[in-house]
Amino acid sequence: KEIVLTGITTTGTPHLGNYVGAIRPAIEASNRSDTDSFFFLADYHALIKCQEPERVKQSRLEIAATWLACGLDTDKATFYRQSDIPEIAELNWLLTCVTAKGLMNRAHAYKASVDENVAKDQDPDFGVTMGLFCYPVLMAADILAFNAHKVPVGRDQIQHIEMARDIAARFNHLFGHHFTLPQAVVAEDDSAILKGLDGRKMSKSYNNTIPLFDTEKKLKKGINKIVTNLLEPGEPKDPDDSTVFDLYKAFASDEQTKEMRQKFADGIAWGEAKKELFELVNGQLSEPREKYLELMSNPAEIEAVLQAGAEKARARARTMISELRNAVGLVDFV
Ligand code: TYM
Repeated sequence: KEIVLTGITTTGTPHLGNYVGAIRPAIEASNRSDTDSFFFLADYHALIKCQEPERVKQSRLEIAATWLACGLDTDKATFYRQSDIPEIAELNWLLTCVTAKGLMNRAHAYKASVDENVAKDQDPDFGVTMGLFCYPVLMAADILAFNAHKVPVGRDQIQHIEMARDIAARFNHLFGHHFTLPQAVVAEDDSAILKGLDGRKMSKSYNNTIPLFDTEKKLKKGINKIVTNLLEPGEPKDPDDSTVFDLYKAFASDEQTKEMRQKFADGIAWGEAKKELFELVNGQLSEPREKYLELMSNPAEIEAVLQAGAEKARARARTMISELRNAVGLVDFV
């Protein structure tokens, strides 16, 4: 069976971009009978960006409830917290020892921090921890511990998966074939980088997100805050340069998208377009939203699900890690 794996960093409240870029395609893939799926809360990764224990704790719960509310079926997918699988941390070390520093120098997240420091005339490595620098190695460990074939992600993660391939290939070259080379699965359309309120990529770090399970009222307010140009009702609008259209498309059928495209050409008012966007999104989210609220009020149920998932995941990761320990020479004397 083909192994599908993906994770979300537990530093914030899940937003529409996480849903469209990762959660929705991942759950769709897990419902196919030819796949075996692994979905997890990337809470070791969370510590790289966040030193607020309460926030990490709350975000783990929210993201876990989100996956379950969106229809993750734990009979079809193994669902766990990264930090419940210490084998991942061990694999992280084995991989660190074969990863060239030069590869990490090229990682976007690290480079962005350096660029920001340089722009501010600061030491290039100011505030850069080894966690941030080595972030792609830990991500490779997540993927390779389960020998995943396919990794559904938004476009911003492609580089990390390419690095996981490089690291896997290096390890295989040195110690024999142990790892499958993983592939990113990215939507071909704009949903691979869903735009946020200000037209940039929707991202926790830009503070421009629309949370997935905001109340109906807040969702409406959020959608109304999407920045649009100054075109008046009746003036034709360009759907290919519009956050409102982008979001609409991410939730609409092909037929609905076609109709909306026409309405843009006919000069639909922004208020009207936003109303239609709200109705479409709200229609699809209101049922899972209720489930989400129910789950959030029952953390014990979520805990039980995650512990059962961790047990399943660990059994697999343990087999992998003992094979790798053998391969690198960490073997018993007798
Ligand atoms: P994270 O937590 O930043 O994002 C989780 C997933 O959501 C996708 N995403 C988006 N997709 C479309 N449009 C957007 N605006 C948007 N914003 C976020 C991301 O691409 C991602 O798929 N390092 C990862 C978490 C991770 C991981 C892994 C993923 C850790 N280990 C192993 C896959 C496999 C991250 O920080 O994603």
